[in-house]
Amino acid sequence: MNYLSEKFNFERTENKLSKLLQTVKSKSNFLDLTASNPTLIFKYEQDKIRSSLLKNESFTYKPDPQGFVQARIALVNYYKQKGREMVLDNFFFTSGTSEAMSFILKAISNPESEIFLPRPGYPLYDFIFKLENSKSKNYTLYPLITEDPNKLQWRIDFQNLEKNITENTKAIVIVEPHNPTGVRLTLEDAAKLTLLAKSKNLILIIDEVFSDYYSNYYKLNPYSGANCIYLNGLSKTLALPQMKLSWIYLSGEPEFIEQMKEALEIISDTYLSVNTPIQVGLENLLETASNIQEKIKNQIYKNCETIIQKLKDNSSIQFFLPEGGWYMLLKLKNNLDDETFTYRLLKEQFVYVHPGYMFDMPDEGYIVISLLPSKNIMQEGIKRLIDLIKKI
Ligand SMILES: Cc1ncc(COP(=O)(O)O)c(C=O)c1O
Repeated sequence: MNYLSEKFNFERTENKLSKLLQTVKSKSNFLDLTASNPTLIFKYEQDKIRSSLLKNESFTYKPDPQGFVQARIALVNYYKQKGREMVLDNFFFTSGTSEAMSFILKAISNPESEIFLPRPGYPLYDFIFKLENSKSKNYTLYPLITEDPNKLQWRIDFQNLEKNITENTKAIVIVEPHNPTGVRLTLEDAAKLTLLAKSKNLILIIDEVFSDYYSNYYKLNPYSGANCIYLNGLSKTLALPQMKLSWIYLSGEPEFIEQMKEALEIISDTYLSVNTPIQVGLENLLETASNIQEKIKNQIYKNCETIIQKLKDNSSIQFFLPEGGWYMLLKLKNNLDDETFTYRLLKEQFVYVHPGYMFDMPDEGYIVISLLPSKNIMQEGIKRLIDLIKKI
């Protein structure tokens, strides 16, 4: 007897690499180059965070489905200082960006609707779509070599995308800066996508969770001509994923905004999932943004330096510097495939990296690493990676 919904009819057993990880991660010389939980790596302004949350108002329950006004004002001010004007009334708070995506799917998706996700891309969205009974299709981002051998451009395959748009297509998701490639769309592709969305009445859903880790991100908003839903949250902005506060922001034609507000109001009111202390504390919590963001950017910078220094003359592996975000792509040369290599790296060198196939990279040999681990871990991890390449 199967008691579960059909949406669970997918392969759920652990793969070979995850099984191996379970046995290797307790070893004293295990190195995790995927570590990206900032709360285990960085020092925070703890006293300030504590006093932000422990205010008298935190002890009273007065829910607002859209999010507390004072907290939304704090966000408007935060964005203003970054260079983007936002409308107070167009924000909706959620408990995490994943939940924000779920709420949007509840609002816009019918059983036959199709929404485009980028490939390669962040794998969690595939699951969220499954759980929401929403159909996703992929549009392809393909890599283009630039004059700089350590930088890739990722372009949209428009021919394929346009061919696959049907009358059931509702929206296109953009992750910007993109996880894991670390780039934004080129201005040309962004403008083309905006025109396409406008002409076909498609919504652009823009996941901006890494925007604070991209220099001058808010100077530019190439999507403002379309109906857009922006997503962001504290898990990256303040590196506080455990606080579970994210937001949806609506922009575009008044008719679109009104309809979305009506639906989101009902959905938010049904769950009221955002806790009170985080909303009460948001204004003061946002004052910690520059401190933690600087620490993270500094770490990313130092780790990029280490990688440049250790891999720049390596003929067997290439690195691609991200424009933003917390991750870096590496690419094995000489037809080495990522699945075998990452398995051997973990088994023989006790170093864990993500194989590119996890993100549906367009060809074999890609590896994804986090840029958050300490400099010592990064140096030793890259050294062991080079040792394995030499052995192969
Ligand atoms: C691109 C992207 N979007 C969304 C999320 C989920 O964010 P949250 O922790 O706010 O649910 C993540 C988490 O790492 C992410 O990488």
